[in-house]
Amino acid sequence: MGMDLQEIERDALAELDRSASLPEIDAVYTRYLGRKEGRLSGILRNLSALSDDEKKRVGQEANKLRTVLEERFAAKQKSLKDAALDSAVAGQRVDLSLPGTFFGRGNAHPILETIREIADIFGNIGFRMVEGPEIETDKNNFTDLNIPENHPARDMQDTFYIDRKSDDGKPLLLRTHTSPVQVRIMKSMPPPVRIISAGRVFRHEATDATHAAIFHQIEGLAVDENLSFADLKGTLAHFAESYFGPKTKVRFSPSYFPFVEPGAQMDASCFLCGGSGRINGEVPCNICKATGWIEVLGAGMVNPQVLRNVGYDPEEVSGFAFGIGVERIVMTRLQVRDIRLFLDSDLRFLEQFS
Ligand code: DAH
Repeated sequence: MGMDLQEIERDALAELDRSASLPEIDAVYTRYLGRKEGRLSGILRNLSALSDDEKKRVGQEANKLRTVLEERFAAKQKSLKDAALDSAVAGQRVDLSLPGTFFGRGNAHPILETIREIADIFGNIGFRMVEGPEIETDKNNFTDLNIPENHPARDMQDTFYIDRKSDDGKPLLLRTHTSPVQVRIMKSMPPPVRIISAGRVFRHEATDATHAAIFHQIEGLAVDENLSFADLKGTLAHFAESYFGPKTKVRFSPSYFPFVEPGAQMDASCFLCGGSGRINGEVPCNICKATGWIEVLGAGMVNPQVLRNVGYDPEEVSGFAFGIGVERIVMTRLQVRDIRLFLDSDLRFLEQFS
């Protein structure tokens, strides 16, 4: 019996030694210490067949061996668990000193940036920002703006027509300017009106460095009792000073747009040469092409016919309107030489303005 216990101890420890995983250890445990089939349990179960002396001696030794083996099993289990935890931790280690993943910070497109800046200037003097759709009716885009069918002024704005008709049977179109928003707003509310509206406009143009088929305009409209050309001048001079700098001067020259009368073009004194046309009194200024002036916008007093078209009474109210080409003034201010760059989404270009 003593031999048996020694043999069990030797075999159990040898097998335990060879076990490399928790399930293997469990299997060895069952083989030696398992309640039913374990070799050591078998000896304890058969004690009754022995004499009293033997029973006592073998019982003690067997129990001592059980304690020893239990401890060895527990120790081996613990060391395997520790090793598994160590390697799991090693695999998940985070090096806090490594540089993070870099995400470039975006910035607003220069066109959007400019629209926001101009909207702020007019917002501060009471002009509300409104929106209009890019697909328009012939009536809003042309007829109600005093550009009747077959009027030569339509040639100024080559138009994209859409394969769908509006209620009056005329084809819908992509708005050629933001001026139809004037018509929409005046038809939707009684005077007084003070709005600006920014957005994309579309023309069937052959594109080159200064012409694009898609560009942006900002439209402005004020209608109230007794508005005069002086109000137009004061408002737009304020805009020019806010946008180009406080020393900016403006000049107006006659121009033709069917929806205003009189119509004008406004120039601002050049922000680079200060209007002298020369830099340091010498080098010709290339922003204003040495003229001292830059073209900024078209404007005028709302044509009484337009007021009638939208249901206003030109005997009671008058108004002024203006249209700013966004790309044009951004190109002048930032010295961009090709209008197509604004549509290209080329980050090498756009990131310069962040
Ligand atoms: N709609 C004109 C264009 O696209 C610009 C314009 C001129 C708008 C004079 C106006 C205005 O409101 O009064 O060429």
